[in-house]
Amino acid sequence: MRTPNGIPLILIIGGGYAGAALTIRLLETCRQPLHVVIAEPRAELGRGEAYSTSETAQLMNGPAGNFSIHLQNLSHLAEWVERTGHDTGIQIPPEGAANIFIPRNVFGRYVGEELQRAIDRAGAGTRVSHWQSDVVRLRRDNDGTLKAEFSDGRHLRADIAVLATGVFPLAEDPALAPLAGDWRLAKPWQSDRLDRLSRLQDILIVGASLSMVDTVASLETRGYRGRYHVISRRGHLIQAVRPAGEPVPILDPDALPQTTRELLATVIRTRRTILSEDRDWQVLPLSLRPFILPLWLGASTAERLRFARHLRALWDVTAHRAAPPSYARIEAAKAEGRFSAGAARLVSAERAGDLVRVIVRPRGERQTREVLVNAIVDARGHQEHDWSRIKAPLVKDLLSIGIVRRHQTGFGIDAAADGAVIGMDGATHRDLFAIGHPLRGVAWESSSLTELRAQAAALAERLSNALNASKVIQLREIETVA
Ligand SMILES: Cc1cc2nc3c(=O)[nH]c(=O)nc-3n(C[C@H](O)[C@H](O)[C@H](O)COP(=O)(O)OP(=O)(O)OC[C@H]3O[C@@H](n4cnc5c(N)ncnc54)[C@H](O)[C@@H]3O)c2cc1C
Ligand SMILES: NC(=O)c1ccc[n+]([C@@H]2O[C@H](COP(=O)([O-])OP(=O)(O)OC[C@H]3O[C@@H](n4cnc5c(N)ncnc54)[C@H](OP(=O)(O)O)[C@@H]3O)[C@@H](O)[C@H]2O)c1
Repeated sequence: MRTPNGIPLILIIGGGYAGAALTIRLLETCRQPLHVVIAEPRAELGRGEAYSTSETAQLMNGPAGNFSIHLQNLSHLAEWVERTGHDTGIQIPPEGAANIFIPRNVFGRYVGEELQRAIDRAGAGTRVSHWQSDVVRLRRDNDGTLKAEFSDGRHLRADIAVLATGVFPLAEDPALAPLAGDWRLAKPWQSDRLDRLSRLQDILIVGASLSMVDTVASLETRGYRGRYHVISRRGHLIQAVRPAGEPVPILDPDALPQTTRELLATVIRTRRTILSEDRDWQVLPLSLRPFILPLWLGASTAERLRFARHLRALWDVTAHRAAPPSYARIEAAKAEGRFSAGAARLVSAERAGDLVRVIVRPRGERQTREVLVNAIVDARGHQEHDWSRIKAPLVKDLLSIGIVRRHQTGFGIDAAADGAVIGMDGATHRDLFAIGHPLRGVAWESSSLTELRAQAAALAERLSNALNASKVIQLREIETVA
């Protein structure tokens, strides 16, 4: 396989939302022919982890009006939902789809369709290929070009590579190891196991955040009438999104707090004022959101670490909120006395006949407690941010050869503000970029759709400008190794 003479080859490693959004925007902005190769082991592009679920009760965490893939046409998704309502099964209210929380698998279909539409419209000479395989190694060849090796044995030379590798799963909890492979231990997206769990009486859910809400919504949809026992180490229970009103002027952009302590004091003061005015605290994360990037960029490494250590869990549970229709399932179960949540750490779990014997240590207590349940759902979330703990071959390889380095905060990898990756030697690569989750340490919030959409647009523009400006682009060979 060879690229036609002079056509630059861009390798996007990861074909989830970020890879798809970047490809769409590149095809729209680059004036010269391109060959984009998207490396993605999944059969469908644009879905990634989040939008591959087949559970229709698992909803987006914001309304359709928020999540158009096109920055220049923000009502695009809502209009698409209105057009496709008849075959996605979504009931469209008379006022339109902008306020509907759609299932995540429907959103995955939307992203895939938009990517295909962009490919169909691409200019002459432009090509997009899906290599359905994992990149396992990325090397700089003797001539300085990037060479990727795939798990199926193929190789590819690229002019530019982008790490759009997304979220990596957390390691299994050792306390749950005795139940490995047992159907009584489920993940929120394992439909076949949830089918079996829905006929039981008592389910322990480990994790009190959005994956817990997904679990309850999926089980309630199946007709589960038993009890939920939810634990998380700190006991913060996620809430539903509420229309909180206009943001409040919480920070002065010209005099941002320099320390975590200062920021916290301002937030506590503002919260007091908001509550004294009978307003909803949910206006706080909304008001803080535009300042996250400047606050993070302006903070010292010590302050970033302080924030990550002491306030991350509180920030996550405050900033990330659940879809109201899913949360209503929790409220209903609560009203029926079927839902309880508390702060506890899981110590061990093992089968005891038809039951599962769980030992937990409630927060602040020395004594452990035994709980007997029928099954456990591990809803601790997907996200391992620390690249030194991720087992994926590419991540291990990139770190071991020093082409990337772990971000000082332990979240993702180091990069310049435009996503250009910084290697172990401190040099910024001009042909290797990252988008989304790997940039968590660089930007702090770097995983929601709106952030990814903005990053995709900025990176596409950055790459297109460079490609449009370059007069001569060397031919790169694509080698296929049997
Ligand atoms: C369950 C869940 C629900 C979510 N819901 C929402 C939501 O409602 N709203 C919101 O704003 N955000 C949500 N998010 C956040 C979500 O992370 C982003 O919305 C977005 O999907 C991230 O896209 P991504 O492409 O960066 O990562 P991913 O979706 O993780 O995609 C990365 C892709 O890269 C591929 N890949 C990884 N390594 C390699 C390799 N070496 N070679 C080839 N391919 C590779 C993977 O197979 C994967 O498909 C959710 C996240 C999760 C986990
Ligand atoms: N569309 C959606 O609504 C949706 C759905 C799912 C996920 N997501 C996204 O996916 C990402 C992950 O969300 P998530 O809910 O899966 O995970 P999360 O936000 O990381 O939350 C993990 C939960 O598990 C708890 N936990 C972690 N380790 C634990 C342990 N050892 N024992 C007990 N509890 C433990 C955490 O609380 P403690 O730390 O206090 O223990 C927290 O309650 C987020 O970015 C989120 O936005 C979105």
